[in-house]
Amino acid sequence: MKSLMIQGAKIIATGSAIPSSSFSNHDMSKLVSTSDEWIFSRTGIRERRLLKGVDKSIVDLGVVASKKALDKISMHPSKIDLIILATSTPHDLFGSASKLQSEIGAYNAVAFDLTAACSGFVLSLVTASQFLQTGAYSNILVVGADVLSKWVDWSDRSTCILFGDAAGAAILQSCSLINNAILNFQLKTDGNYSKYLSIAYKQNTSAHPQLNIYQGSFKKIYMNGKEVYKFAVFQIPLSILKCLNSINMSVQEIDWLVLHQANERILIAIAQKLSISTNKVISNLRKYGNTSAASIPLALDEAVQDNKISSNDIVVISGFGAGLTWGTIVVRW
Ligand code: COA
Repeated sequence: MKSLMIQGAKIIATGSAIPSSSFSNHDMSKLVSTSDEWIFSRTGIRERRLLKGVDKSIVDLGVVASKKALDKISMHPSKIDLIILATSTPHDLFGSASKLQSEIGAYNAVAFDLTAACSGFVLSLVTASQFLQTGAYSNILVVGADVLSKWVDWSDRSTCILFGDAAGAAILQSCSLINNAILNFQLKTDGNYSKYLSIAYKQNTSAHPQLNIYQGSFKKIYMNGKEVYKFAVFQIPLSILKCLNSINMSVQEIDWLVLHQANERILIAIAQKLSISTNKVISNLRKYGNTSAASIPLALDEAVQDNKISSNDIVVISGFGAGLTWGTIVVRW
């Protein structure tokens, strides 16, 4: 993928937020017929965080994650030009980014939602980098936030065990071309497989009597776990290789692999296919499960706080999920 660049872009801060309430596999086994042993051995997940309380939403989590990122670099929210909120679980079908904008006081920022499920953060990072590299904006806040607990079928043990709630944020800034740190990206979608993972529209059985319009609501999460598993393990190594090859980089140059935290076995299988040591794979699934658009920024933020990722490291970030959509972005930290 080639894009015209008049200036560079870099990530200058990250932040994250998790709900206070944790829900262990043991707790899960009281809800559906499952066990800690089954869940942990198949997924690597031990617990997840759930957003509880009346009217609590991704906006609450997104605000905390954003403020933490801003505080780290002492940036006033008025300096943000654009906010991209990656989410599939907005608190308003028209979007939640503007609510986030007002709650953090980023009054100069234009704000919009981007819906691409678990690939949402990668697509948002790429979108942000385009606005920066073409010179349109100087400071962009990208937030990945999801509360899939509101959309999970809590009686379906094959899906409800996987997901958790969280938010993560990254601030990107323009810089000189020579310091450009968003080195390359590769994005793909194959809508033929959208049926494998969806929260489909559910129309009412009868139409409006005068208008013949079918209104409705949304169903709960449906997933074909086996197909999604095979897709991720097949497509992500290809995406990473393609992205690296086109900038003449080798797999050996990767310092950290930050993959969407879907399943520990998926992370390991991808690393093995690429012959990357699992020591270079960032994983926090054990504590949070799959937090959809939040999973990558949450993992990035923790890895930075733990002094794993440091300046000049080559970080390869890949997301994948419903759509099916997937993609990779190569970053010099
Ligand atoms: N506890 C206990 N047993 C369970 C269970 C649970 N939570 N969920 C399913 N099972 C049972 C099934 O009923 C099935 O029983 P059967 O053999 O008697 O029919 C058995 O376990 C195997 O089920 P299966 O669906 O084949 O398991 P799996 O090995 O494919 O693992 C997933 C299921 C969901 C963990 C796995 O497919 C997966 O992780 N897929 C990727 C999902 C994903 O990452 N999605 C998000 C992408 S963004």
